[in-house]
Amino acid sequence: MNLLILGAPGAGKGTMAQMLQEKLNIPHISTGDIFRYNIKNDTELGRKVKQYIESGALVPDSLTVDLMKDRLQKPDCLKGFLLDGFPRTINQAESLDAILDEMNLNLDNAIYLEVPDEVIIERITGRRVCTECGKTYHIKNNPPIREGLCDVCGKPLIQREDDKEATVIKRLETYHRQTEPLVAYYKNQGKLLVVNGEGSIDSVFQEILRILGVQENDFN
Ligand code: AP5
Ligand code: MG
Ligand code: ZN
Repeated sequence: MNLLILGAPGAGKGTMAQMLQEKLNIPHISTGDIFRYNIKNDTELGRKVKQYIESGALVPDSLTVDLMKDRLQKPDCLKGFLLDGFPRTINQAESLDAILDEMNLNLDNAIYLEVPDEVIIERITGRRVCTECGKTYHIKNNPPIREGLCDVCGKPLIQREDDKEATVIKRLETYHRQTEPLVAYYKNQGKLLVVNGEGSIDSVFQEILRILGVQENDFN
């Protein structure tokens, strides 16, 4: 399946994508994770994107589209892919359509995780991420077994640099202005699947599998 997951900052895109990646056995491609990896390793790309991310603005489309064009050509995408955090502007969505068209591929569905702004703030401020493998936790909703340490690799959990409240408010504004129009874009293409993202992590995941038509034993 060729999928993307759309929604506000903190809606649960990364959490659901990490679970879907295992279930569907397709790569989870998060532009945010790629940018953070580059910032952490102080690469040329990392240095270019750092100030945009830390101020809650979008990275320029030119950088993002080129990055995704390369990533989608990697052989692991032949079995399908799950995009998280891309596209984020109408221009990026049109570029994605063109890239896939050139590769003779099609997007199957855009999953839209709908979550109100009040819930978002609580989710983001309680989020912790692994410094090593990027796995996402929440201090109340999804705590690690040992406080402050990753269940998978045992490395320390940290708060993301852009998860300070002032930056979160800016990211929400950016989302409503620049990214929310994509809901109508994919609705017009007949590809939008709307999922209420307010339930528990497990119930939202089950709802996504249901709406995709994935059975319990598929892909196992
Ligand atoms: P990105 O990393 O994509 O951040 P984001 O869109 O702001 O989304 P988040 O990662 O904050 O949230 P999420 O939806 O993944 O939620 P999560 O699953 O972690 O982008 C960061 C920055 O990079 C952008 O601001 C921009 O500058 C730049 N960028 C990235 N892509 C770009 C692009 N295409 N173009 C331009 N710039 C780009 O969940 C949040 C918390 O809630 C967690 O603690 C989780 O445990 C908890 N949780 C999740 N689901 C539930 C649930 N159902 N119930 C209770 N708790 C839950
Ligand atoms: Mg994320
Ligand atoms: Zn880890």
